[in-house]
Formats: sequence, C-alpha cells, structure tokens
Amino acid sequence: MPSKATSERDPASHERQPAYRFSCIECDALTEGAGKDFRCSQCGNLLEITVSSRKSASLDGDALKSIWRDRRSSNSAIDLSGVWRFRELLPAPASAEHIVTLREGNTPLYELPRSSRSTGVRQLYAKHQGMNPTGSFKDTGMTVAATFARQAGFRWVACASTGNTSASMAAYAARGGLRSLVLVPEGKISWSKLSQALDYGALTLQLRTDFDGCLQLLQELVRRAPVYQLNSINPFRIEGQKTVALELLEQLDWRPPDHIIVPGGNLGNSSAIGKALLEMHSLGLIARLPKLSVIQAEGANALVRTLRETGGKQLFRVQAETRATAIRIGNPASWQKAVKVLRATGGACEEVSELEIAEAKAEIGAEGIGCEPASAVTLAGLKKLLSQGFVNPEESAVLILTGSLLKDPEYTIEFHRRELSLEPKESNAPLESLRHPPAVLDASFDSVIQALEKAEKSDSPDGNA
Ligand code: F0G
Repeated sequence: MPSKATSERDPASHERQPAYRFSCIECDALTEGAGKDFRCSQCGNLLEITVSSRKSASLDGDALKSIWRDRRSSNSAIDLSGVWRFRELLPAPASAEHIVTLREGNTPLYELPRSSRSTGVRQLYAKHQGMNPTGSFKDTGMTVAATFARQAGFRWVACASTGNTSASMAAYAARGGLRSLVLVPEGKISWSKLSQALDYGALTLQLRTDFDGCLQLLQELVRRAPVYQLNSINPFRIEGQKTVALELLEQLDWRPPDHIIVPGGNLGNSSAIGKALLEMHSLGLIARLPKLSVIQAEGANALVRTLRETGGKQLFRVQAETRATAIRIGNPASWQKAVKVLRATGGACEEVSELEIAEAKAEIGAEGIGCEPASAVTLAGLKKLLSQGFVNPEESAVLILTGSLLKDPEYTIEFHRRELSLEPKESNAPLESLRHPPAVLDASFDSVIQALEKAEKSDSPDGNA
C-alpha cells in the first residue's frame, strides 16, 4: 500500500490528527479536558467537543468527500466502520489501537414508496439506524465514547437507559475489555433490549424508578465512584452520532434534503445531527441547511412544552408516559443543545399521539422495513407537519429510524392482536387494515386454504391491505 494512503488510514497521523477541545454550550468556556460529569466547571452546563481539523489546506470539502469515498474500498477495520471513516470530523484517539468498533454505521437509506403515496411526499426516505450492530443508532456514538473510555484507563463504564443505550454500551464494553453497569427502569424497557445487555455481560440493575430517576442516580454514582458515564451527556457520544448525517448526505450525493425528522427523547441524537449539519455547512460540504425537526410522544413532550411554554428558555419537565418506551423521558438532559439546533436549522418540534405512533409503525412495517415504536414518531410527525403546511409535498424528507423492529416485539404483537393499550376503543378503518393477527388453525389443508381465500378477499384492489 502506498505510504500516503497508509498515513491517511492512521488516525494517529500527526498531519491529519484533529485536535479537540471542550466548550461550554452556555458560557463558551474552552478547556483541554473535562470532568467525569462532562459539565462546565464555570457555569455547570453541558460541554460539547470542538474538533479543529483540516490544518492542511488540501482538506477542503471536495478533498474530504474524496477521502471518505476512497475509504469505502478499504478493508481496514477503521475504514469499514461507518463512523471512523469520517474521522477528520471526529476527536482522534491517541492510537488506532484504542478504537473499539463493531463496524457500526453503514446503514441503508431506503425509499418509502407506500408512505410516499399515502402522504403525497414524492421524495421520502428512511435512514435506518436500526441496521446497526446492536440494532439502534446508539452504536455510532458508542464506538467513539467507548474508545475514549478505554484510552482513559477506566475499568467500569455505566449508563442509565430506556434500553438501547444499555444494549449498545454493554456490547462495546465487552468488545473493548471493559466492565459495564446498566441502570434501567424496572418493567419499562423491552425484553429484547434487556436480553442484549445480559448476553453482552453487563451488570444490569433494574431500578424501581423511571429513566429520569436512573439518570439522576447515575450522576451521583459518577461523582462518587470510579465509573465513566456513557450517556449522551458524554460529548464523545454526540461526536460519533454526527456521522449519521455525514453518511446520509454522502448517500444523497451531498444534495441536502429539505427536511430531516428525528425522534426526541433525551435529545442527544437531534443535537448530534444538528451539530453535524452546521459543521458540514460551514466546511462547504453542503450548500444549504436542511430543516431538522424533532418529534416527541404526547406523553413525553418535554421539549414541545419547553418551546411552547417558556420560549425555549427553561426546561419544562413532564412525568413521562408512552408505550414508545425508548423515548419515555420527562427531563431531557440535552434540551438546550436541541433548542439551539432547532433554531439554527429552522426545524419544528411536534408531538404525536399513541394511536398515531401505532399506525405509523405499522405503515413502516408494511414497507418491508419496520422499526421500533419510538422511531415511528417520525412518520407520524411528518403527517402532522404536512397538515400544518410546515412540510410541502413537493419537498424532500428523510425520516431517521432509530431502532430495529426486533427491539420491541411485545409492542408489535400486542398491536396486531388488538391488545395494545392506550388506544381509543372505537374502530379505526385505516388502522384495522394494518393489523395482521396470527391465526391458530388445525393442521389441515382445508383450513389453510380457507385462510388464504379469506385473506385474498379482504385485500384492497391496490394490494396494500
Ligand atoms: N429512538 C430510540 C429507538 C431510542 O432508543 C432513543 C433513546 C431515542 C429515539 C431518542 O433519542 O434520547 O437521543 O433523543 N434512547 C435512550 C436509551 C434514551 O437509553 O436507549 P435521544
């Protein structure tokens, strides 16, 4: 391999190495290091990472695009990662040896023909982050944060979680030779996510509280015990999660969509995507900014209320309740970062009902793609933004699907069996046509043929029933 290419593949290369610093999102104080709580020592607000890369003049937007494209034909572990492939915009570890990767990222961008027809939005895509190694978008941030945890010499990493962060953290900790401690709300995360944490070897504690209670306890633990926190308060997570936007824009040949729509829970993901869009714009990688909109469940609508009732000045906490358990969060840690990116990109913030979430989830399933309930708020939110005139059918929109269909099988089965709670009881024709309950029959040819004929009769003329 030529030596130039080799040096480009080495994240420790001094020529390419981006230096990074921590800056406070409130008072702009800049520091070289950060405390374990990742808060500003002056004002107590959250920190973010600023990467000052591209010291070499040759690394303009076009040069970066071509380096990233070339790496797609490389078989080195860090180039095969859809996160580290974009390492010029990430904090660099001291050595490539420290990188903990499961070949995350590299997720598909799908067209949504069925939803496109039903909503009238002709250019409608889903970027499916559920196709990551542990089945959610968390892996893109976890590879970076686990790498820096290992580099800092920690033995234990820890998180509070509604399920996906814990699954991802446990996997990356196992890969990186670290122990992991998971704090989850008892009875409020799906079995599928819990089972991942168990199999990856985490010490899993189901606490008799909600996610917000788990996160609060974690903050105390971080102050008093030698554990490294891997919640999205950790700005290394945010840096890794930026890459979904980089990969998306690359897949769209760097032509920005008009809208990107993302679910909002603890609000790390919207902050990360917004940060990436602003960085791409200032580096000349994209000519204009897409509008980034955040959608929450009605029962967990802290950001919606914060904007509506305090103009984004003060957090409006809520007692969260939703069957989309991944976003059952009432006291989101990164709300100020999210307010900033909503303002900077001109996006909207909306809430959707449990019924709208259930319907949207089944529609995404009917595309042959599927997602978990929290991800389906994006399609439900798009419909709402269309009805408000915020999105125009002539515009293009990308939904960020954050988790796999397999993450919450209980929800899906209850939906199809008409057992899902929190739905109005009256019948709803479009919803009913999306249900496909399993049938139990005698093992005879006749009963199978009868079921087939019945299904054939109930199909709508366009075959979409
Ligand atoms: N979608 C899914 C599938 C999630 O798991 C989460 C958050 C979100 C959306 C919201 O993202 O918090 O960055 O605004 N899950 C966290 C967890 C809280 O612990 O797994 P956010």
